[in-house]
Amino acid sequence: MASWQRTHTCGELTAQHEGQTVVLNGWIDNHRHHGGILFVDLRDRYGVTQVTVDSTRPGTEAGLFERVSRLGLEDVISVRGVVSRRVGDQINRQRATGEIEVMAQTATALNEAEPTPFAIVDAAEASEETRMQYRYLDLRRRPMQHALVRRAAFVQAVREYLAGKGFVDTETPILTKSTPEGARDYLVPSRVHPGEFYALPQSPQLFKQLMMVAGMDRYYQIARCFRDEDLRADRQPEFTQIDLEMSFVEEQDVMDMVEGMLVHAFREGFGIRVQTPFPRLDHAEAIARYGSDKPDLRFAMELQDLTELARRSAFQVFQRAVTEGGMVKGLVVGGAAERFSRKDIDELTAFVGGYGAKGLAWAKVGADGLTGSIARFYEGAAGKELIAALAAKPGDLLLFVADKPAVVHKALGELRLKVGGILGLRTPGEFRLAWVTQFPLFEWNEARRRWDSAHHPFTAPVDWDITEFGVNTGQIRARAYDVVMNGWELGSGSIRIHRADVQQRVFEFLGIAPEAQRQKFGFLLDAFRFGAPPHGGIALGVDRLVALCLGLDSIRDAIAFPKTASATCLMTGAPSPVAADQLAELRIAALPRETKA
Ligand code: AMO
Ligand code: AMP
Repeated sequence: MASWQRTHTCGELTAQHEGQTVVLNGWIDNHRHHGGILFVDLRDRYGVTQVTVDSTRPGTEAGLFERVSRLGLEDVISVRGVVSRRVGDQINRQRATGEIEVMAQTATALNEAEPTPFAIVDAAEASEETRMQYRYLDLRRRPMQHALVRRAAFVQAVREYLAGKGFVDTETPILTKSTPEGARDYLVPSRVHPGEFYALPQSPQLFKQLMMVAGMDRYYQIARCFRDEDLRADRQPEFTQIDLEMSFVEEQDVMDMVEGMLVHAFREGFGIRVQTPFPRLDHAEAIARYGSDKPDLRFAMELQDLTELARRSAFQVFQRAVTEGGMVKGLVVGGAAERFSRKDIDELTAFVGGYGAKGLAWAKVGADGLTGSIARFYEGAAGKELIAALAAKPGDLLLFVADKPAVVHKALGELRLKVGGILGLRTPGEFRLAWVTQFPLFEWNEARRRWDSAHHPFTAPVDWDITEFGVNTGQIRARAYDVVMNGWELGSGSIRIHRADVQQRVFEFLGIAPEAQRQKFGFLLDAFRFGAPPHGGIALGVDRLVALCLGLDSIRDAIAFPKTASATCLMTGAPSPVAADQLAELRIAALPRETKA
């Protein structure tokens, strides 16, 4: 070991090491003079240790004080010294190494640093752009390192669990043919086959199904996926899934496995304990009660159905909505009548307007009846009936939307979350997981005037014997399940189609003609003809899960080197133009930027 190399990290020395000569390596985190003594906080991933330079102390190298005085923040140094116990109020209880200091005998600068563009402190002071540009400095900050360490521990625990259950970790191709997951593909040109392209996988979906046909029985992969989609706070163009697939299973088997895995990995990764079994709601129920297919179960305030009552209402808006085939639902905001002023309610009205609601009817429950926008239609007995139907109490605020079911559910679902936020109904540190099952198989795409797969076209229908998809299409249920937490979708999965005939009928219904089916999915259809076992699986988004469990603001903070909202890397400058000869070799010509797609 070279003389400058560390004997200990900056996070491990305690009173037990008193008197030992140690060598520490790290970055200068803090640097201060105090009465002729120099205090240097030395930092590495494991912690911070105070190094003290006192030139009057025997054994201190001549000139050390002056040399260390000249060093600056973020210089990388090596220090040799003796561990000394602190006494009385010198003990720093906030710090694991706070019982000791290292009395420096000698020190070497391993590399000096220029002033950094932002201070390396816990609370980010720099803009998001600057942090991204100097990501390696951003990652020196303790909360960022903590997130990466916890993420690794979580993934490690997932691996342990799945390997223990006989899952085989298998790599699937990155250069592949597009697997439709609903987003645009990232394409990679082929040099050997000019004019032809690979696609980066949106998920390993088809490969993992083929692993089942191969008889591998249980597959998993911590898989990188690529999707060229519009990014939001919870999305990245490349992200990581815990991807798994199992043979000879039903929904229950996959759910049990995932619950066991999450209990183990939440505990090991984040110290979070979760209860099993996770509550289960079918899709229709989730929408009806929470106005969302990923309900936040940390608070109640469920949507209440008033359609029947509204049918007989003196309030035209309610009555008309019902006679026109719509519905009326409401929220009872417990004890909030005083909390929300007229102006607040106007803001909520504008808020639901953003989700298509034409208004927000409201009332406050008083000791002797209702006040508010609909009070005059609900005097006397009608008011009593409304209050009873909602089990509302004096002091409650009532909020209603009348419209088509889709608008009512979306508007009230979002309003529920908003009001829950305003009233602080979510308990910090609480994690509520649930399964949402039996999603619709198909979804109407109004823009393209056709049916799309709600998840992906490989999902099995609840009823294998469906002969015609054209009839009551919106009502056909899928054997699909999502695992949701605190209002977010963590993962999605399903029992798959394993019969070529059913798969072909689904493709056909989605408007994929037989030739196109062969060209795109021939290998899958062929595989299903050679003995495909019933199978199903799921994929969970790791980045999103880590961000949620650690309470991070963005999934970017759960990723070492993320992309910006416009899918760029500000550190490396990707994407970037390439040299003309590189393009020529690929026989690709870039159209001018202004060219319309
Ligand atoms: P799905 O497309 O629902 O299913 O993806 C599964 C999970 O991956 C995460 N996720 C993302 N995370 C970050 N950025 C993104 N752009 C992004 N897109 C998705 C989410 C999501 O729940 N092959 C199927 C799974 C299966 O059927 O087994 C699939 O990929 O947490
Ligand atoms: P108006 O009769 O238009 O003055 O509306 C009376 C109240 O009903 C106001 O509070 C409106 O915001 C509300 N309102 C109007 N249309 C709807 C609707 N479709 N659903 C719920 N409330 C509505």
